[in-house]
Amino acid sequence: MNDHAESTPSVSVIGLGAMGSGIAQTLIDAGCQVSVWNRSRGKVDALVADGAIGCDTPADALKANTHVVVCLTDYAAWNKIIEEHELQSHFAGTYIIQLTTGMIDAVREHAALIEKHGGRLADGAVMCYPRDLGTETGSLLMAGAPDVLDSCDPLLRILAQNWTNLGDDISKPTILSRALMVDIGMALIGVVNGTAIAQAGDIPLDVFMQHATNVGSILDTEKARLIEAVRDGNTEETQASITSWGEGQKAVRSIAQSLGTNLVLQDAVKAVFEEAEQLGLGNHDLAALAEVFSAEQA
Ligand SMILES: NC(=O)c1ccc[n+]([C@@H]2O[C@H](COP(=O)([O-])OP(=O)(O)OC[C@H]3O[C@@H](n4cnc5c(N)ncnc54)[C@H](OP(=O)(O)O)[C@@H]3O)[C@@H](O)[C@H]2O)c1
Repeated sequence: MNDHAESTPSVSVIGLGAMGSGIAQTLIDAGCQVSVWNRSRGKVDALVADGAIGCDTPADALKANTHVVVCLTDYAAWNKIIEEHELQSHFAGTYIIQLTTGMIDAVREHAALIEKHGGRLADGAVMCYPRDLGTETGSLLMAGAPDVLDSCDPLLRILAQNWTNLGDDISKPTILSRALMVDIGMALIGVVNGTAIAQAGDIPLDVFMQHATNVGSILDTEKARLIEAVRDGNTEETQASITSWGEGQKAVRSIAQSLGTNLVLQDAVKAVFEEAEQLGLGNHDLAALAEVFSAEQA
């Protein structure tokens, strides 16, 4: 195995999809010696043309460097590769930087497997597009033992200068990244639902876009206010109560229904507000919906 040189670390990358190729390219551009393996050879060859060292097997990629980034569709793909290529025997002394999106159980099982075979694991979630890697918008959430994260730091910094250390609980990047995905996912699903309602009501989407942007400009401030209110348990003071929000959402549902659009999203929102009312939260701030979503209520 190559020694890890801090100035221009050498590294292997397993999995060269959109994200894995972006990771490998960013590391090559930063001057790293990068060995790459992918199931489909074409993606290996494209990076070899840019200076990477192509590996014929994932075992070769593991043997080539002490630090190995893994970025695949899911953990099932990685487990299949481990099994088919009998990779366990190559984990000892290797730092696996696992950047595949995972579920909590899969992430924990994987951590146990790597540890059992003498490997060291840094598990993370990529919170940006491949094009953002190596720029100031590159974002990585990482967890692992302090010495492992220290050892991976030069590589992580190349990908995301201000990568986030979430400590040694390996499931934290998965949890935080999914919590963030709910946030952005709901906003984006909402805007697409809004286009359906606007179109069904003959509102030109250019007009919808202009006003969606205006309305959206309050989002950052409101998000911060809501998170602080939940953090501080201060959900009683409000300028717009849950009952008032619920009435607004009923109006949305009624209009969506009159226009003949699909009500699947409005029905889900209606259920949330009904549960809040059942919990006696009608006079509280929207932040009190946290009680509806809390584990105790699930
Ligand atoms: N793309 C993004 O913007 C983005 C952003 C944040 C996080 N992520 C995460 O990054 C990870 C990779 O995403 P991606 O966008 O790079 O996906 P992708 O473009 O679909 O690439 C998937 C990769 O997994 C490999 N793969 C899948 N099944 C396999 C199997 N059974 N055996 C061997 N290799 C297998 C593919 O190999 P082949 O090339 O041979 O098919 C390819 O290298 C995911 O966990 C994703 O959630 C992606």
